[in-house]
Amino acid sequence: MSDKKTSNQMWGGRFASGPAAIMEAINASISFDRKLYAQDIRGSIAHSQMLAQTGIISAADQEKIAHGLNTILKEIEAGSFEFSTKLEDIHMNVEARLADLIGPTAGRLHTARSRNDQVAVDLRLWVKDECFRVAEALKGLIMALLARAEEHAATVMPGFTHMQAAQPVTFGHHCMAYVEMFSRDLSRVRDAIERMDESPLGAAALAGTSFPIDRHQTAKALGFREPMRNSLDGVSDRDFALEFLAMAAICATHLSRLAEEIIIWSTPQFGFIRLSDSFSTGSSIMPQKKNPDAAELVRGKTGRVNGHLVGLLTVMKGMPLTYGKDMQEDKESVFDAAETLDLMLAAMTGMVSDMTVNAAAMKKAAGSGHATATDLADWLVRTLGLPFREAHHVTGRAVALAEEKKVGLEKLSLDDLQSINPGITSDIFSVLAVQNSVKSRVSFGGTAPSEVRKQIRAWKKRIAKA
Ligand code: ARG
Repeated sequence: MSDKKTSNQMWGGRFASGPAAIMEAINASISFDRKLYAQDIRGSIAHSQMLAQTGIISAADQEKIAHGLNTILKEIEAGSFEFSTKLEDIHMNVEARLADLIGPTAGRLHTARSRNDQVAVDLRLWVKDECFRVAEALKGLIMALLARAEEHAATVMPGFTHMQAAQPVTFGHHCMAYVEMFSRDLSRVRDAIERMDESPLGAAALAGTSFPIDRHQTAKALGFREPMRNSLDGVSDRDFALEFLAMAAICATHLSRLAEEIIIWSTPQFGFIRLSDSFSTGSSIMPQKKNPDAAELVRGKTGRVNGHLVGLLTVMKGMPLTYGKDMQEDKESVFDAAETLDLMLAAMTGMVSDMTVNAAAMKKAAGSGHATATDLADWLVRTLGLPFREAHHVTGRAVALAEEKKVGLEKLSLDDLQSINPGITSDIFSVLAVQNSVKSRVSFGGTAPSEVRKQIRAWKKRIAKA
């Protein structure tokens, strides 16, 4: 007969004893939610102050509680606090230590509160702080891109569709496309902050409380705009975490696209840019190699950030109101996504600032592949009054002739071009030069250096205020 206290032979391999040990292992969150210690203590101090001010506990007890909590904060920061898995989570670890320090008075802190509203407020405070950090990091990246864009507002490079050279653009214009993308991320993170700026504290277990608490006071003390209006929603809402993860996933996706371009641009075949030594590594076997590891890791880490969004969406989709222990699974996704995104943003900002741009290689590539074919077609429309479809056809024939002669479109002679359409004059050569092609695209948002500079000026002002 097996001893009930020893672990089950079939499935209890790594557990010292039976169900209790397995329960403890699956239940405990202290290994990761200890990250919330500062928010937890801040929330508890605010709660205790409100309890004293509303007369629910005495001022003397509140002082003892706050003093004890501050001691715990110092202990945790000094690394002398002993976290215990038996005590499950950060909330019970702190409360148990408070009882050690101040005795039975500690038991008054949890009046008119539950771990359900406690964990909701702790995580919200943490995510909100992280959102401010992401906003600052995004601003740094945007400023780095603006600096490169300004430097290269007139540096011609090929613009691609289908990864095939399509029309010449400028490197500054390309950088500014990412400024737009990261600025949308910045506005997303600011929107998310606005929406998460409500306090769940005081929702208690789920239904509110019969004690005369003041939720407006605790909301204000914790820096929230106002308390959440529905106690059931207060304990069960994790939209703030989902919105953070959604923003993080979109931002990571943007970072990954830029990383992919950096990887392509830095190949010897392209040679558009060179990454600094600080953001590349060598090969242990091939001495000639310089690998864009940081860019590859930005691209690779996007997988886990995007995964965390899907992970938490999947946890939440099956949750009836209100709290269920499933929701304990919200934290690791959020923490890992945050840490990963912070690192990705820092690495990308470093790469953008440090990389050397090879303007000559970009210009050379911009002129290849008959990249100014559209300019020829537009000229035929503008100067000879051809309908665009016919101009497209004529240009196609010119490209075919250039291919046959193995030269670039701009290298065809006037005779060659006139053999296709006799109306063509030597004026055409001005539009076939890449520099002129780029200069001519002055439509709003176009690639002309004058337009790009306008956008840079506008964004510099906007970012200074953002
Ligand atoms: N550790 C829990 C969590 O992270 C705290 C809330 C526990 N509430 C409860 N009713 N068991 O979700």
